[in-house]
Amino acid sequence: MSAILPSGASLYDRVRHFVPPIEWPVFAEDIEAILDLKRQRNAVILAHNYQTPEIFHCVADIVGDSLALARKAMTVEADVIVLAGVHFMAETAKLLNPQKTVLIPDLRAGCSLADSITAEDIRVLRKRYPGVPVVTYVNTSAEVKAESDICCTSGNAKAVVESLGVPRVIMLPDEYLAQNIAAQTDVEIIAWKGHCEVHERFTPADIRELRESHPGVIVLAHPECPPDVVTEADFSGSTAAMSDYVERQKPPRVVLLTECSMSDNVALHHPELEFIRPCNLCPHMKRITLANIREALEQNRHVVTIAPGIAQRARRAVERMLAI
Ligand code: 13P
Ligand code: SF4
Repeated sequence: MSAILPSGASLYDRVRHFVPPIEWPVFAEDIEAILDLKRQRNAVILAHNYQTPEIFHCVADIVGDSLALARKAMTVEADVIVLAGVHFMAETAKLLNPQKTVLIPDLRAGCSLADSITAEDIRVLRKRYPGVPVVTYVNTSAEVKAESDICCTSGNAKAVVESLGVPRVIMLPDEYLAQNIAAQTDVEIIAWKGHCEVHERFTPADIRELRESHPGVIVLAHPECPPDVVTEADFSGSTAAMSDYVERQKPPRVVLLTECSMSDNVALHHPELEFIRPCNLCPHMKRITLANIREALEQNRHVVTIAPGIAQRARRAVERMLAI
């Protein structure tokens, strides 16, 4: 275990609140192997904010929300990128790094939003609303992005919608994100019926109960939550925006209405704050483990590929977003 200790504190110190000592030797062996493999293969690991603390704090090189991961993917100099997140994130990294090897440790790491819409659905919508631009959330397949005018994330959706300078846009597939953005802009938004299976489960009653049982609690909600939840919350923003809020405001008692690992990862930097943790788990994000990250690097799997015709058009939609 000692080989993985950086000078100063041990890696275990970073995760000791989440990993029982008895489990650490197994984790430590995988971590040590991953750190070695990264050096051998000139690889970097990009990890979303919903990854578990042992991935997020012990092996990841770049962490963040979907927007930050896409932006930082553009500047990666390594030969290999391992995406510790879900499949659409790995595809976005590949779109922005066509010459590099991009690996996703488990091909089943999907997303209920990405599964809610197909490229054909967009072609039908375009016929129904001729001339109305299509703004597509990054939580979609490359095929869907290829049919879109521009992408957005929860961190820049309003800016993207308003950048188009039109009175009406189609925004898909997340109905709740579309409604939450519609409440902040004069642009008319035509939405789709997709939902995030993690965020759709939060309710306004949850917030009222939290406020009763934990007086003074500050409630932060992800914009994939239903609009009545966002309205009852004190703040709504992307995972990075929630993390920044905690960093800036240091609320003594706080709850993050989002995926479970998010609070764990933010709490690590703020032991002085009380995090209330009624969270919902994303089963797709949780498919990524230290063991399959190690296997991905050892066995070069699963290599993300996108057909060139699709990639070219999907990249245009992502790059248009990143230019804003
Ligand atoms: P952000 O990290 O961009 O806020 O997205 C949350 C999410 O659900 C990604 O799957
Ligand atoms: Fe998709 Fe929701 Fe999971 Fe994010 S949290 S990957 S939006 S299912």
